[in-house]
Amino acid sequence: STQVLKCDPASISFDRDSEPHITSPQTLESLQAASRYLLDTLRPVAFPTETVYGLAAPALNAEASARIFSTKGRPADNPLIIHVSSESMLQSLLPPNYTLPDSYQILIKRFWPGPLTLLFPSDPAKIPSIITANHPTVAIRMPSHPVARALIAISNSPLAAPSANSSGKPSPTRAEHVFRDLGGKIGLILDGGACDVGLESTVVDGLHQDGNIRILRPGGVTVEEIEKALQQGLSGDPIPRVLVHRRDFTDDIIEQTPTTPGMKYRHYSPAVPVTLLRTVSTPPAGVQTPTPSVLLISLKSTTISRSPLKVGLLTPLESIVAKKLLEDPVIQWHQYVLGSLSEPAVIAKRLFDGLLTLEAEGVDLILVEEIPEENEGLAIMNRVQKAAGETCWVNLQSL
Ligand code: TXA
Ligand code: MG
Repeated sequence: STQVLKCDPASISFDRDSEPHITSPQTLESLQAASRYLLDTLRPVAFPTETVYGLAAPALNAEASARIFSTKGRPADNPLIIHVSSESMLQSLLPPNYTLPDSYQILIKRFWPGPLTLLFPSDPAKIPSIITANHPTVAIRMPSHPVARALIAISNSPLAAPSANSSGKPSPTRAEHVFRDLGGKIGLILDGGACDVGLESTVVDGLHQDGNIRILRPGGVTVEEIEKALQQGLSGDPIPRVLVHRRDFTDDIIEQTPTTPGMKYRHYSPAVPVTLLRTVSTPPAGVQTPTPSVLLISLKSTTISRSPLKVGLLTPLESIVAKKLLEDPVIQWHQYVLGSLSEPAVIAKRLFDGLLTLEAEGVDLILVEEIPEENEGLAIMNRVQKAAGETCWVNLQSL
């Protein structure tokens, strides 16, 4: 059976030396119990981070890290992120005499602790090869969630942690999500409430000779924020370019770059089919653009379901399609409003909860309306596209 222990993040603070101070006795007990469990049994523990819930194991122990892969059903060629609680813990993981690139010093100063993962050269004498999946680099971040950072500090060990979901499922942003997915498979979940960011960390590779910054996975820190931090931090010096793989390559400062090993897998999919509704851009030549009524007819005819058809609709507050679709009297709609387009961070925070909530409500399929790929929108649309089995362009003229 799976034990759930509560932690109050507000009761935890850190001093200048990254030492945690915990005022709630219950929170201290939960953290100590989780730490003992991690180190004594070498079995993984689910814990909250500011991005999503993670599934932790002591990173320098290969056997413990292997259990992460078996618990999630994760392919062995997908490397793990190591989480640290202090800069000295980061140093302890790096090759001897390694100096950080200037760009990393700026990014660490600005975004750590927080949802930014950086690649570093991996020292094989220190980092088990199971963590890096034999890549020459290791991904490391310092989470800002007090429960995550305190668990690492109290364990006095860096923790390897992927998201705490079965491989391929949406990432959990609440303890209940973890319980629903991995309950019975893991011994312990630390419950620290809902995650603030709601999407995984941004994975950045700044190790190339050209000095440019490659965004391997868009996430909690936006491309715009990274560009701004580098411009401010490197004033006078040449500013590295920030390269990101986008769906279309119309923006001329953007070029195609490799994504993370993890990005080749279908990801973030609930048990029900997901369709992305594209509304904002011009469809490519030859692509059909059904009116909402045509779309609904085809949904009704292609979906094997009980009647009435239950359809989940995930939209921004300013939805373009909702009004028209909800007019359909035959479909039983389950709308989940993500938040206003003026606050994409709120949409990011609620996206996985939206997918998981609609799945739990037993809908037959989920339609997700696209949002502009700016700021948090880039990471949001990246996750939606990976969740979606198909894309449907809606004819805007008919709305
Ligand atoms: O926000 C997060 O990053 C969450 C929380 C728990 O910290 N963790 C997370 O881990 O999202 P995971 O395993 O679900 O995703 C890690 C991503 C994968 O896409 C993986 O391929 C990539 O990071 N990655 C890890 N090590 C890498 C490396 N050495 N080179 C390139 N990509 C790497
Ligand atoms: Mg994941």
